Amino acid sequence: MKADLFRAVLLRYAAAPLSTRLHVYGRLRSVPVAPILAALPREGLIASVGCGHGALEIAAVLDAPERRVIAGDIDSAKLQHLRAAAQGLPLRMVDGSVLEGLGEPLDAALIVDVLYLLPPEEQRQLLAALFQALRPGGRIVIKEMDTRPRTKALWNRFQEFLALKVLRITRHRAGTCGLRSCEAQLADLSAAGFTLLRSTPLHGGWLHPHLLLTAVKP
Ligand SMILES: C[S@@+](CC[C@H](N)C(=O)[O-])C[C@H]1O[C@@H](n2cnc3c(N)ncnc32)[C@H](O)[C@@H]1O
Repeated sequence: MKADLFRAVLLRYAAAPLSTRLHVYGRLRSVPVAPILAALPREGLIASVGCGHGALEIAAVLDAPERRVIAGDIDSAKLQHLRAAAQGLPLRMVDGSVLEGLGEPLDAALIVDVLYLLPPEEQRQLLAALFQALRPGGRIVIKEMDTRPRTKALWNRFQEFLALKVLRITRHRAGTCGLRSCEAQLADLSAAGFTLLRSTPLHGGWLHPHLLLTAVKP
């Protein structure tokens, strides 16, 4: 991620509590932000499911001001910090589902490290609902974890165990951490009607087995 964009995003959270600033810093340092932003269209309406504190969404609109983002999460405390950080930006927050009350078709949908928190059936329902909400030619960008390389996947499972069960910093309804293979995630995208554009393993140089999937609604 470019240093000036990194600083600009962090500055937006300057008034937030230290724990939030550390969390945002950690996300920006541990997630491959640049390839995610590069996979998104540079203009139009983007819905982000499970935005958390919204650092990536803020980065998305600072990176390309023609983007408009609707960001949803079930954690209203995180959204409150995002609301303060996003003032004056083309970013709208939704408590819950981003798909409720959408007035126009989406140009893109973004999901970053959220699917693994949903049971497989809910993941499939979400992909199908996003497919319906996208305009033809619209794309979906998913950054999740792969189950390979095994050592990085094991490290990721341990970290998720801490986040979900011990520290409880990630809210989830399912009660499980369902990390799935790249092949299973691709099969779900295809079953929802999407055509895969790219499946990019992004673990090189990172601690985690990041996987970036980009698909289009034909
Ligand atoms: C690991 S965090 C990722 C947050 C953000 N996408 C990022 O990359 O920094 C997962 C987020 O998904 C949210 N979440 C979990 N289940 C959800 C659901 N059913 N709908 C919307 N958000 C959900 C959690 O509250 C949490 O903020």
